[in-house]
Amino acid sequence: MAYSVPTQLPYQPRFPGAGANEAGLRADLPGIGIIGCGNIVKSAHLKAYVKYGLPVIGVYDISAEATRGVKEQFGVRQIYDSLDALFENPEIQVVDIATHPEARIPLMQRALQAGKHILAQKPLALDMGAAREVVAEAARRGLQVAVNQNGRWAPPWRVATLLIEQGAIGEVLAITHLYDISFNWIPGTHFDRLEHFAIYDYSVHWIDITRCWLEGQRITGVRAVDYRTPHQPDHGKTPWGMWVEITCDDGAHAMIRGVGCSQTRHRGHPFWIHGTEGTLRGSVLGNDYVELERDGVSYRFDLAGQWFPDGFAGTMGELLCAIAEKREPYNSARHNLLSLELTLAACDSANAHGALVKLVSG
Ligand SMILES: NC(=O)c1ccc[n+]([C@@H]2O[C@H](COP(=O)([O-])OP(=O)(O)OC[C@H]3O[C@@H](n4cnc5c(N)ncnc54)[C@H](O)[C@@H]3O)[C@@H](O)[C@H]2O)c1
Repeated sequence: MAYSVPTQLPYQPRFPGAGANEAGLRADLPGIGIIGCGNIVKSAHLKAYVKYGLPVIGVYDISAEATRGVKEQFGVRQIYDSLDALFENPEIQVVDIATHPEARIPLMQRALQAGKHILAQKPLALDMGAAREVVAEAARRGLQVAVNQNGRWAPPWRVATLLIEQGAIGEVLAITHLYDISFNWIPGTHFDRLEHFAIYDYSVHWIDITRCWLEGQRITGVRAVDYRTPHQPDHGKTPWGMWVEITCDDGAHAMIRGVGCSQTRHRGHPFWIHGTEGTLRGSVLGNDYVELERDGVSYRFDLAGQWFPDGFAGTMGELLCAIAEKREPYNSARHNLLSLELTLAACDSANAHGALVKLVSG
């Protein structure tokens, strides 16, 4: 039977409840409190929450400087001067924790003790033990913990995920990603202090989406390398060039390659997903598009929105839907354990000059 291409795909952020009121606010949703109000919160989380009318009750940051102006700019109701004050507000049922990972795990434990559901920034934790403990503690308390893998709701990637789930390309055989960008913005930022920034911090989104596309397949090994590119300036400490290879027991294979030094006006992150019945290709964060090739015909999907900021509404929306529907979110911390394990395994491999790291859970 000929394949029928879906004309409508639910790739945009989704929320529970009746929808926005006349003021464009989703007042019927659980209140949100934000912990850690740094760069990414102001450049993406809050922009997304304002765009989709999500109820942000208050924010807390250990630095008063960080929260300056967010009331006026984003309509946040309250700036808290202590974590306890935020936790004590019963209107806040969901906390969005957007610190760096070192501070995040203790904050997550405290939020669970306070009875709050959590959306945690990525990478979820510094080690698997801490991540597993948080997952177990949330389960004991009947609370949901989701991870802000907002790339899952980047429109081209979301369309690709839905098409794979519908069997549009059959079984996934090979996944290829390329970062056609430069990391020349890294020197001078806190990211430059990370030994394997390009693998641990940046690629966690690409590793995560790759394992989503390999859902149901048994991932057995990871190899990774990072290196200084020839023209990387001396003051840039963390390596810009990298690749990560992910292998499955049936031979399915993924390669993530970051050149780190691209000189181009057409920056983007092209990807290809080759399956038994067809091919998906597209790009995120520059030159966004997604196309399905099947039975000799190519279909390009119309896309609205972008990873930044719409993906950040996607992760929060999925958590809010899961709470309302009393189910685990798609971006749950439990589902994220494998993504974190792969990311940490890739760093271990890079430390061993690309040696194969076999997965414990593989
Ligand atoms: N696409 C994405 O999802 C994306 C993009 C960029 C960064 N990130 C992640 O977001 C996290 C934060 O990155 P950033 O660039 O916003 O960093 P940042 O340094 O700008 O912000 C971190 C904030 O956390 C605050 N903070 C630290 N400890 C705290 C504590 N105990 N309680 C309350 N606040 C505390 C700091 O004062 C700071 O304002 C990192 O894990 C990073 O990897 C994700």
